[in-house]
Amino acid sequence: MAHPSVIDHFVDKETLLDDSARRNPNINESRLRLLHKAITVTDPGRILSIGLGSGISEEALRDRYGITIAKGVEPSAGFAELARQRGFDVVTAGAQEIDYEPDSYDTIVYNGSSFGFLPDDELEDTWRRNFEALSDHGKLVFTDVPKESALGAVLFLTQKYPEIKDEDFQDILSGSVFHHADRNQYKPYWHLTSWYVDLLGRIGFRDFHYFQTVLANPPYQEDDAVDPISGYTKGNYIAVVAVK
Ligand SMILES: C[S@@+](CC[C@H](N)C(=O)[O-])C[C@H]1O[C@@H](n2cnc3c(N)ncnc32)[C@H](O)[C@@H]1O
Repeated sequence: MAHPSVIDHFVDKETLLDDSARRNPNINESRLRLLHKAITVTDPGRILSIGLGSGISEEALRDRYGITIAKGVEPSAGFAELARQRGFDVVTAGAQEIDYEPDSYDTIVYNGSSFGFLPDDELEDTWRRNFEALSDHGKLVFTDVPKESALGAVLFLTQKYPEIKDEDFQDILSGSVFHHADRNQYKPYWHLTSWYVDLLGRIGFRDFHYFQTVLANPPYQEDDAVDPISGYTKGNYIAVVAVK
């Protein structure tokens, strides 16, 4: 069923993610190591990647680590087409619009805050259906710029209060992926990490693992590529792994 909340936020912007990865190779590398760490907490098995964008991270997982995703879901037609050109099987749809087969995946991943584009009630319903779609001991993984991080706080507040002028905060974002990015393309829904963890716990996920990376403040984030560490209270990029 088509959902009115599913919007292509990236019309004619299909190169945005690839351009950003090229401009910020160290942040891209740190994010890739974070994703890899999170999806290998248990055997990745059959992977569904939801909101995979142009598939740039999935391509790196495949080419560097030999980890292949079984299917992708992506509502932006331009991104979906680029991901198909990278060899992935992609359904052009929002996460809310998919009928998930029970017991069909071992890992369902929302990389790059793609879950943050779903309204709260639709996210809860979708994650409940994702829970059913996972095998026993399967896992849901998400990665995010948390609202409570230095980067997240600036993005959240400047998106919420458009009267804040660019010239008053772009220096803070220099060195980050979001320097001069369009505020309408930040994820629209923001909660603290604990809110998402509580939701996943209510849905029935039992075992949680957390990883974080890019601990530097925004102007210094492109300085080095770094390995993820445990936890979610310090990183500007975090991963949550919720095991069924
Ligand atoms: C910041 S991008 C991240 C893309 C990619 N996962 C990455 O990390 O490079 C967020 C992605 O979520 C997608 N998205 C937006 N609404 C969505 C929805 N309702 N369901 C699934 N994905 C959605 C966007 O089209 C976009 O590709």
